[in-house]
Amino acid sequence: MAADRTFCLRDVVLPDGRTGQDVFVEAGRIAAVGPRLAVPDGVPSLDGGGWLLSPPFVDAHFHMDATLSHGLPRVNASGTLLEGIALWGELKPLLTQQALVDRALAYCDWAVAKGLLAIRTHVDVCDDRLLAVEALLHVKRTVAPYLDLQLVAFPQDGVLRAPTALANLKRALDLGVDVVGGIPHFERSMAQGAESVRVLCELAADRGLPVDMHCDESDDPLSRHIETLAAETVRLGLQGRVTGSHLTSMHSMDNYYASKLIPLIAEARVHVVANPLINITLQGRHDTYPKRRGMTRVPELLAAGVNVGFGHDCVMDPWYSLGSGDMLEVAHMGLHVAQMTSQAQMRACFDAVTCNNAAVLGLDGYGLAPGCHADMVLLQARDPAEAIRLRATRLLVVRDGRVVARTAPAVATLDLPGRPAAVDWTLRR
Ligand code: FE2
Repeated sequence: MAADRTFCLRDVVLPDGRTGQDVFVEAGRIAAVGPRLAVPDGVPSLDGGGWLLSPPFVDAHFHMDATLSHGLPRVNASGTLLEGIALWGELKPLLTQQALVDRALAYCDWAVAKGLLAIRTHVDVCDDRLLAVEALLHVKRTVAPYLDLQLVAFPQDGVLRAPTALANLKRALDLGVDVVGGIPHFERSMAQGAESVRVLCELAADRGLPVDMHCDESDDPLSRHIETLAAETVRLGLQGRVTGSHLTSMHSMDNYYASKLIPLIAEARVHVVANPLINITLQGRHDTYPKRRGMTRVPELLAAGVNVGFGHDCVMDPWYSLGSGDMLEVAHMGLHVAQMTSQAQMRACFDAVTCNNAAVLGLDGYGLAPGCHADMVLLQARDPAEAIRLRATRLLVVRDGRVVARTAPAVATLDLPGRPAAVDWTLRR
């Protein structure tokens, strides 16, 4: 009789291109990876069918307190960031803890079904009741057996601009929220934005916590809080523990300034998270033609050695009325917006929703190497580019050595004279 959470998954292809691989999982950990593995008698086998096996998807930027609230109390008519923030302000007094928990748990179900097993979510701390903080801390504990949830204390209305925000943020950290958030471009002046970055980075340094700020989510090329964030990271010795999210103003910046800024971000080892689905819709709203894309400079940051991840940011909320927790949809949009169409760049887009995001979250034991947690997803695709092209079906999702979700393969049945009876969209070689 084999031990619990022990099996051998036979014949998969790995994201690095190795084909015909077996993965031996023993007691919830990956014990061995290689071709035609010999395993002890009694270990059950699963047929990988030659499909792509990946470590699970990771979302480095989400708003779980707002998710699935689309239409409450009304929809965003203009589709802009500012109407979204105003709409969230209308919804906040109407929130109940039970409704927040129910929506978040429903989203976590969607996520697991899509092979998304780790999420960093921002949680608004500007409501003095801290209802959303308490709700998401409860959800974090509830989903811990099957999904890693990391919380960021996010002062949506500005940590200096909103009178109780800083005190609330500290209360949220005291309650167990993991990461210090911020929104410097939403403060009342550039100077106050820079001051907010200093205050929040010092708070994180004092408490030994990571930082993840919404930073320069604007079309204003002079919104340069990322420079302050990187400089504060170096000053306080926070290298590797700080993330700049969105950074959309970099799209509009002067090229000379950007050429000076990107090496500073690299030197500070600040992680960057772009949110392509959201920023391709929110940015450039005041442009006539040509309209700016608004996503930060992903290929240039990667070329400088910066760790860049892609986040989902929103699903069915005041800012975005689409989405399903599918990180391959995020990668698909990021690839298009950044024009990352070479084979290596498509692979980099797959990394941006898997291992790069895992590095942002600082996940321990992530990956498919021996010794890693047996968390993985089997995709109905032959390689990462095909997975992105098809937003491939998640045939199996494994967490801690247990299959936690299955989806039937996507195959269409045709009824055409003289044509094959079934068609799938993968490229069989
Ligand atoms: Fe966000």
